[in-house]
Amino acid sequence: MIDPFGRAITYLRVSVTDRCDLRCVYCMSEDMHFLPKRDLLTLEELDRLCAAFIRLGTTKIRITGGEPLVRRDVMQLFGKLGQRLGNGLKELTVTTNGTQLAKHAGTLVAAGVKRINVSLDTLDPVRFGQITRWGQIEQTLDGIFAAKAAGLAVKINAVAMKGVNEEEFDALVAWCGEHGFDLCLIETMPMGEITGDRTEQYLPLSVVRARLRRTWTLEDTDYKTGGPARYFNVRETGRRVGFITPMTHNFCESCNRVRLTCTGTLYMCLGQEDSADFRSLLRAGVTDERLEDAIREAISRKPKGHDFIIDRRHDKPAVARHMSVTGG
Ligand code: GTP
Ligand code: 5AD
Ligand code: SF4
Repeated sequence: MIDPFGRAITYLRVSVTDRCDLRCVYCMSEDMHFLPKRDLLTLEELDRLCAAFIRLGTTKIRITGGEPLVRRDVMQLFGKLGQRLGNGLKELTVTTNGTQLAKHAGTLVAAGVKRINVSLDTLDPVRFGQITRWGQIEQTLDGIFAAKAAGLAVKINAVAMKGVNEEEFDALVAWCGEHGFDLCLIETMPMGEITGDRTEQYLPLSVVRARLRRTWTLEDTDYKTGGPARYFNVRETGRRVGFITPMTHNFCESCNRVRLTCTGTLYMCLGQEDSADFRSLLRAGVTDERLEDAIREAISRKPKGHDFIIDRRHDKPAVARHMSVTGG
């Protein structure tokens, strides 16, 4: 599928739940209201939609949330989608907070998952508790090491926050190097009302990169995952560090992805409100052909890019829905 700006859309991010066992400060407010379970697509509905996307050229599917691994039956979905690997689907993967990984890493591998992304913004247990509001770092670390032991390649995601974890990036690069993980640093995006002040915490990654260069030799590489990060090799560790910079360096021109929420709403851009509803189509019993037409129609509306800005004069987030609706 080619969108109006000539971009091939090959990457589908599927959020399977809006729920999470944590409440990261940049992602959720303290008093989140979650959807009633009946609003969620069933696994069969999710699988049917994914199959239609694969027939139309989707080669990479990433399962997200909320926290995807808290959905009770999610491993069955991995099983179903895993069977589609090799039949058009090239990569099946997941972005998780790691808390349930110790339980599920083996099943993910059995389903054909090879690489996972885990959020870990700090190595400090107290700070971890503050950022996630009540998370226990040991649980996430146990999950990460279980994933490694099961043979999964792990990428660590850390959202860069001024005055919160900004002194820790050298330590994160070293720790990831020691354990054989790639690291991605991410600029905070203004999505959904949160409890704190995003403007105060916003940290441009251009600044972080310059600081990292004092300690580490960052070498250019053309390594690509199909995601938005720009990667560098860290000579001293032999691992990579990536920078996801929606605010300082917009990567929309090479966007290849769309996002399906757990209620069957397709967002054509993370930073825009336009969407297409697939739940009503599915529940009206449409044919596969009609489903594919609707997907093509949605892609033909994919916007050029997002309108994120972080500016004190805008007291509302650029996009009203929380990051947890679309799983980042
Ligand atoms: P890889 O397959 O490893 O490249 O993963 P990824 O970077 O595509 O996925 P991940 O779930 O790890 O996302 C990391 C961060 O990138 C999250 O904060 C996402 O919100 C952000 N991100 C991913 N795609 C986009 C995008 O199209 N636009 C913006 N603004 N941010 C994105
Ligand atoms: N800005 C940037 N990244 C965010 N994430 C969650 N909320 C935000 C935000 N407001 C990240 C998480 C996770 C990924 C899916 O999105 O840390 O790694
Ligand atoms: Fe949960 Fe991930 Fe959001 Fe944190 S960033 S509250 S772990 S969905």
